[in-house]
Amino acid sequence: MAKVVVGMLGFGTVGTGVIRLLGETSGLHLKRVAVKNASKKRALTAPCPVTENPMELIDDPEIEVIIEVMGGEHPALELLRAAIEKRKHIVTANKEVLAKHGPELFKLAAAKGVAIFFEASVAGGIPLISTIHKGLEANKIMQVTGILNGTTNFILSSMEEKSEDFQTALAAAQALGFAEADPTSDIEAHDVAYKLSILTALAFGSFARAEEIYRKGISSISPEDFRQAKEFGYRIKLLGSTSRKSGGLDVRVLPTLVPLSHPLANVSGANNGIVVQGNAVGELMMIGPGAGEMPTASAIVGDLVNLATALKLPDFASYFQAAVSSEWAKLSDPGDWVCPYYLRLYVHDHPGVIGQIGTIFGSHGLSIRSIIQHGVDDGHASVTIVTHAVKEANMQAAIQDLSKKEFLKRMAACLPIYVSGN
Ligand SMILES: NC(=O)c1ccc[n+]([C@@H]2O[C@H](COP(=O)([O-])OP(=O)(O)OC[C@H]3O[C@@H](n4cnc5c(N)ncnc54)[C@H](OP(=O)(O)O)[C@@H]3O)[C@@H](O)[C@H]2O)c1
Repeated sequence: MAKVVVGMLGFGTVGTGVIRLLGETSGLHLKRVAVKNASKKRALTAPCPVTENPMELIDDPEIEVIIEVMGGEHPALELLRAAIEKRKHIVTANKEVLAKHGPELFKLAAAKGVAIFFEASVAGGIPLISTIHKGLEANKIMQVTGILNGTTNFILSSMEEKSEDFQTALAAAQALGFAEADPTSDIEAHDVAYKLSILTALAFGSFARAEEIYRKGISSISPEDFRQAKEFGYRIKLLGSTSRKSGGLDVRVLPTLVPLSHPLANVSGANNGIVVQGNAVGELMMIGPGAGEMPTASAIVGDLVNLATALKLPDFASYFQAAVSSEWAKLSDPGDWVCPYYLRLYVHDHPGVIGQIGTIFGSHGLSIRSIIQHGVDDGHASVTIVTHAVKEANMQAAIQDLSKKEFLKRMAACLPIYVSGN
């Protein structure tokens, strides 16, 4: 393997893992690391000079590859642009900058004849990007669906196992270091939306704009939903999905009921699990650590080794680079999505209420598969309904009608149900 000279932007959690792993990998020479605060005490001493000026790496003609593990949108974007302009190859873990500026960065990289490697940006240690990009090259990808955020999976797993409410499970995840002090990006599913944008580019050729992705976080889920879901044979997971539908691409992330018999239901704790559906291979599934110092470093250093192996070959960048359009993906109307739904509502416990719910559902073409009513002490009843497959727009219209009825006390949940291969 040719000796490749590398510079690294960032020396935090992932950067530390990269330095640990690079020590065991021959053929790669880390020449310089850039950080925000060079006097900060670190878990590890860098094997090279550490600077607060990232341009020292970018302007260094000897450095051929920039590892970007600083994260965030700015100044990562400007530094990546500058590095590509200087014809340096990029290895990045930064899902946010790719999801927000992927089309521009990939266009610039193609013009400059360099490659952007991004295995670490989605699903951490799971080699999902290379599997879709290279391993499944003979396939037309139909759908990529999965648990793409370890923090929310950890919280949902705790809520179910310990019958905890959301706030208690979140506080425990923060105390254990599984959730950030500001958990918004994880619990409101922005993090998964960024990853779906990247997976959409890989599977279907264009990045999806993160703000156009249909998104719902996990903060409204209650322990009662886990109990009810289990009664119907399901477990609640935050599922992200990008799929090719007749009306265009459907990209969405929301809490979803997964049948207990499906392997995705058994992805627990901070793990990730992803199902990829290709026209030739059918369905395959990968499970593993979606984050963490060493799993993420495994993805970064794997990319580096691939790069280093091929760097001296002519036109290697185009071989490695996923064919990604400089246009954003056109997403289909979320209202066209078809799947079964789970609903939980509190109603006044009067005779005829169930009949009225049935009439409203029928008027929107919704057919009920199962319904369970539990009396609650204060004259109200909890009603849980599972429908047959229905268009999302019809489901929403039925909810609108229900919300106008005097008998409805509260709509507690309306979640889709995962159907394998849908
Ligand atoms: N952590 C994970 O498990 C994980 C998993 C998958 C992907 N990722 C992605 O990997 C990237 C890095 O994550 P991380 O957890 O390692 O972050 P982190 O621990 O916060 O580390 C960020 C590093 O970047 C440096 N930095 C920040 N702003 C800078 C600036 N303006 N100039 C120079 N250096 C700057 C920081 O310097 P100081 O040390 O001086 O503050 C720090 O060393 C992110 O894009 C993240 O989304 C992380």
